[in-house]
Amino acid sequence: MTLPYSSVLVTGAAGCIGAQVVANLIQEGITPIVFDLSEDRRRLNLVINKKDADDIKWVVGDITEKGILEDVISDNTVSAIIHLAALQVPFCNENPLLGAQVNVIGQINVFEAALRHNINGLAYASSIAALPPENEKWPATLYGTFKMADEAIANIYWNTKSQPSIGIRPHTVYGPGRDQGVTAAPTKAMLAAAAGKRFCIPFSGPVMLQHTTEVANAFIAAALTKKKGAYVADLAGSNTSIEEVLEIIRQIIPSAELSSTGEPLPFVSGLNDKYLRSLIGDFPRLGLSNGVKKTIDSFKSLLDENLVSADDAYIDPLGKSYYNLYDS
Ligand SMILES: NC(=O)c1ccc[n+]([C@@H]2O[C@H](COP(=O)([O-])OP(=O)(O)OC[C@H]3O[C@@H](n4cnc5c(N)ncnc54)[C@H](O)[C@@H]3O)[C@@H](O)[C@H]2O)c1
Repeated sequence: MTLPYSSVLVTGAAGCIGAQVVANLIQEGITPIVFDLSEDRRRLNLVINKKDADDIKWVVGDITEKGILEDVISDNTVSAIIHLAALQVPFCNENPLLGAQVNVIGQINVFEAALRHNINGLAYASSIAALPPENEKWPATLYGTFKMADEAIANIYWNTKSQPSIGIRPHTVYGPGRDQGVTAAPTKAMLAAAAGKRFCIPFSGPVMLQHTTEVANAFIAAALTKKKGAYVADLAGSNTSIEEVLEIIRQIIPSAELSSTGEPLPFVSGLNDKYLRSLIGDFPRLGLSNGVKKTIDSFKSLLDENLVSADDAYIDPLGKSYYNLYDS
């Protein structure tokens, strides 16, 4: 069979969603080209076997650097791009200037490269955080503001330069490799439970939870769709609550010592992904109970293989106090 895609460039591929996108592309027989600031293969090693991981073409570079993608695209005959490189909420709060450079300038850099190389399959990560919370006029975070700008940038590139794209708005992604960002807490609770440790999620209330495999399938389908226009769509996954997620974990591990505290997240919830599915076609739903079980089973194996450690549930990349609640 001749594949329509010689290779798919994945920016931010060393991250949680990126690692799973790379794994799924390989499974579909499509060559992924990794582009990331980091050389760290830790997350990839959680979802891919060592041989496949060693064979991957890995380009280290900074998405904010002008022209950085030029050679990567032409040297590897890239014909679609999945743009995931970004800084999440806590990192944007910590360093707003860098947040804007990576999350906004990076978006422009990717769109410029796609335009110059006639790449019609372009999917990028926006976020539910781009939407103003109910009764508010603006997004609740700088991160969400940058993502809102990204959607507007995609719109301008279609209106003025005919560069097509599909933006996807995940809410709370969970699964192996989800180790940083505010909404990593449900995954950390699953890891703690698998390791027999206590855990407290530092927020409560409604969330939309999406397993990494569902998210990866959606980004791949969006990049391969080649729809003409600038589209952006919500990725709903399972509409649930933190309380229900803890209950599902307790059903799987009755001895799990889990709790939650604090206010609900400042993001819209209760959405659906009918529009996304109408754009890119249907992609498999995992379902919340199955997804939580799959995640806990993965963590049990990964703990046995020393690929994750119980301490990972409590690691805070920024040393901020709200992460300390995890260990209460
Ligand atoms: N995880 C979620 O729940 C969620 C929800 C909504 C949206 N998103 C979006 O999805 C995308 C992927 O999220 P994730 O959870 O995999 O994030 P992640 O933090 O795990 O990974 C982000 C990756 O981007 C890379 N990166 C950062 N700065 C870079 C730079 N200057 N140049 C090149 N690479 C750089 C990092 O090294 C990292 O590997 C992001 O755009 C994120 O905003 C994620």
